[in-house]
Amino acid sequence: MEIVELGPERCDALLRFFAELPEGDLTFIKEEVTDPETVRSWATESSPGGRWVAVDGDEVTGYAAVRPLPGWSDHVGELRLVVATSQRGKGLGRELARRALVEAVSSGLSKLVVEVVAEQGAALALFTDLGFTGEALLRDHIRDRSGELRDLMVLAHHVSDTWSGMDTVGIADELGTPAG
Ligand SMILES: CC(C)(COP(=O)(O)OP(=O)(O)OC[C@H]1O[C@@H](n2cnc3c(N)ncnc32)[C@H](O)[C@@H]1OP(=O)(O)O)[C@@H](O)C(=O)NCCC(=O)NCCS
Repeated sequence: MEIVELGPERCDALLRFFAELPEGDLTFIKEEVTDPETVRSWATESSPGGRWVAVDGDEVTGYAAVRPLPGWSDHVGELRLVVATSQRGKGLGRELARRALVEAVSSGLSKLVVEVVAEQGAALALFTDLGFTGEALLRDHIRDRSGELRDLMVLAHHVSDTWSGMDTVGIADELGTPAG
């Protein structure tokens, strides 16, 4: 299993990965993930942020993306992460999120945000360990598959504030920059 930047050769496997995910998990990606043209266009786009996939042979088992926000928030990246249901609980989500964070910081983004459903224990634990903290709680903000209203949490990672936090997970070393 390795994590690689998304290239054109992985797009078909990525489409298969998205097609097999439960519908509720796809909502976190916020893009037309079942449209082949959309997914293929990702491999050639050039903008800050990026997209990465976990691969096992020819199959994609996880996906992470950092999308810069538009206009006056273009210093902020939104992180999106999803792991194949059969591969969860093995540390893959953590590795993908870590890779996305390292690359986002390297590309100059100074703040990252991620939206998680408030009761999603795995996602909360994972992002908290990477230096994300709760920044907003949006009550009754989303509907789950059965139509129930759920709270949405916005977690944020402020790059300069959490530099020492990043050092503890080895990210400063990975960037080759001394922790301040
Ligand atoms: C959130 C998600 C990406 C986590 O992926 P994963 O590969 O299972 O995560 P990891 O195995 O790296 O686990 C990370 C941590 O979550 C916790 N965790 C894992 N599985 C858990 C579970 N079933 N219940 C509670 N906590 C759990 C653990 O603390 C784990 O850390 P550990 O290494 O100390 O055990 C995955 O559940 C997913 O795709 N969810 C749907 C989409 C989503 O919610 N995305 C997040 C917002 S964009």
